[in-house]
Amino acid sequence: MAILVTGGAGYIGSHTCVELLNSGKDVVIADNLYNCKKSSLDRIRALVSKDFKFYECDIRDAEGLQKIFDNEKIDSVIHFAGLKAVGESVEKPLEYFDNNVNGTLVLLDVMRKNNCKKIVFSSSATVYGMNNISPLTEDMEVGGVTNPYGRTKFMIECILKDLYTSDNDWSICLLRYFNPIGAHKSGTMGEDPNGIPNNLMPYITQVAIGKREFLNVWGDDYDTPDGTGVRDYIHVVDLALGHLKAVEKVEADNGLFIYNLGTGIGYSVLDVVRAFEKASGVKIPYKIAPRRAGDIATCFSSSEKALKELGWKAERGIEEMCEDSWRWQSQNPQGYPD
Ligand code: NAD
Ligand code: WQD
Repeated sequence: MAILVTGGAGYIGSHTCVELLNSGKDVVIADNLYNCKKSSLDRIRALVSKDFKFYECDIRDAEGLQKIFDNEKIDSVIHFAGLKAVGESVEKPLEYFDNNVNGTLVLLDVMRKNNCKKIVFSSSATVYGMNNISPLTEDMEVGGVTNPYGRTKFMIECILKDLYTSDNDWSICLLRYFNPIGAHKSGTMGEDPNGIPNNLMPYITQVAIGKREFLNVWGDDYDTPDGTGVRDYIHVVDLALGHLKAVEKVEADNGLFIYNLGTGIGYSVLDVVRAFEKASGVKIPYKIAPRRAGDIATCFSSSEKALKELGWKAERGIEEMCEDSWRWQSQNPQGYPD
């Protein structure tokens, strides 16, 4: 039996596929290649001992998905496919609701028709909204989200909860990721954003290779130790290993499970700049700029529930996250080849 990985050619999906395949699982990837390069699939192949099937398929295409279920023995789904740029979602809300929410509805309907009722979903710490105080625990109220992207994650969480209430045969795991950074140790796989990066680490690595002149630090007047925003950065390989545990959980038990995937540790923007400079030996020029709309001062997880129930915890520290991000960026200045 195989795991269908939607969005498996993207940043987190590709790292997860490496860990799934190397643990002996059968994997089928479905991706429409909207936000990734096909060459990421060759990079996965080079790092694993077994092959996998790839379908160029949009999750909103029910017929395309049905063909995958006809051809393959799919037992469970890890659902990464989605659009993820917060700023873009404000400009293009309809595209985000269509791709993320409608796409998930189409996928769930095809799964139900094929009696496949096990799913792990990529949610986000963004569902905790502006008002909860860190460390964030899974039992806190969610939903105070401030942008369409975050709302799609919150809405999909609601849909999955209602689906489980309607039919307890489902087994559903909502994984709330904190701030994934880092790259595969080999330096052959990593994050490859289009255009100007929104997120901190890819912006820093692009400054380091000389693609950008300096980093804008969005605000130094927050109520944090050095005034800059504090976040819970997690190595993408730790995140990938969390998915292995989560898929084993939905394979073993019925239920609706919710886990934070974070380290439980918060670092400020300037902590990350310093850690990156130490790991790379490259100076990162920065300027303090006004706060970015929608940002909060501090966001970090409690990671106790995932440890207790999945036996998972993040093992890789900030130094390793920075070293691995830098190895990827410096060895692949243009990202993945076309
Ligand atoms: P990514 O863009 O690198 O990967 C997403 C993949 O999904 C891409 O390969 C893209 O081509 C594919 N895709 C998008 N829409 C699709 C569709 N309609 N049909 C088929 N494929 C489609 O992003 P990522 O960072 O790997 O994120 C994966 C998931 O995790 C997303 O759902 C994202 O919202 C979520 N997430 C990411 C972060 C983060 O900071 N990276 C944090 C929290 C949650
Ligand atoms: C981190 C810190 C910025 C860029 C976003 C999404 C969230 C999730 C992860 C998907 C903040 C500061 C950043 C820069 C800066 N994605 N920063 N200069 O905002 O915590 O989370 O990505 O689900 O939903 O909102 O991550 O990497 O953008 O920012 O000073 O050029 O770095 O202000 O304090 P964020 P980020």
